[in-house]
Amino acid sequence: MDDFKGRLTKDGIRIHNPEDFAGMHRAGQVAARILDAVAPLVFPGQTTEAIDAAIERMVTEAGATSATIGYRGYQHASCISVNHVVCHGIPGPKVLKDGDILNVDVTVIVDGWFGDTSRMYVAGKLGRKAERLIEVTHDALFKGIEAVRPGNTFGDIGCAIQSFVEAQRMSVVRDFCGHGLGQVFHAPPNVLHYGRAGTGPVLEEGMFFTIEPMVNLGRPETKVLADDWTAVTRDKSLSAQFEHSVGVTATGCEIFTLSPAGKFHPTWD
Ligand code: MF3
Ligand code: CO
Ligand code: CO
Repeated sequence: MDDFKGRLTKDGIRIHNPEDFAGMHRAGQVAARILDAVAPLVFPGQTTEAIDAAIERMVTEAGATSATIGYRGYQHASCISVNHVVCHGIPGPKVLKDGDILNVDVTVIVDGWFGDTSRMYVAGKLGRKAERLIEVTHDALFKGIEAVRPGNTFGDIGCAIQSFVEAQRMSVVRDFCGHGLGQVFHAPPNVLHYGRAGTGPVLEEGMFFTIEPMVNLGRPETKVLADDWTAVTRDKSLSAQFEHSVGVTATGCEIFTLSPAGKFHPTWD
């Protein structure tokens, strides 16, 4: 077996060994199982800090470590982004109300490997516009994933996502992107969710990265609140996000963070 360990592409992207996929699979599955268990914790009257506390317990019970607690001063086991919050929402005493939509983003470390995934949930009854937004965002992630194969470029991923989203008259957030990961949380490249086909680094077998498109019903611009974390849509429009961690294989990709219970989408059960 070729040993690629330590090889970085000219763009600084790490090429992992075949056996590294197993480590990423284990970490990804711990994160995905935790997100499966979050579903029944989301209901009107619930607080986002109660959801986060349950996530922190589940991380510990799994024998894993939270990648976010202590990361650049962040103090929680999850990011919980409600309604017009785009990403990096801080869990707190905020009470969920009927019809709220939220992204829960969890990153764990298992035996040194990082598993990073997020999904949408709804408290109570899902509204029609929110449902369409969630549907388009979910499908946009999979348009990106379908573009993952050796020989394609990162621009192909971004282009697949952007063209799909904009055809639905929604917008792709530019201010945040996916990222390489593996035995580190955030590594090259920046995985843009927009762009031109055929541009950017060429995908190679053994690359590990996230795809995590944020889609807004309104305009794409965001701003970060005074807490230095919470990113919101400038026009206050609803925003949604889904995230998977993937590894490039010889013929396509392995999704490390697939839901073991098949619950990735909030309307699936
Ligand atoms: N999990 C997020 C991502 O997808 C990063 C969260 S960093 C935190 O990259 F500090 F805000 F938790
Ligand atoms: Co991520
Ligand atoms: Co994440």
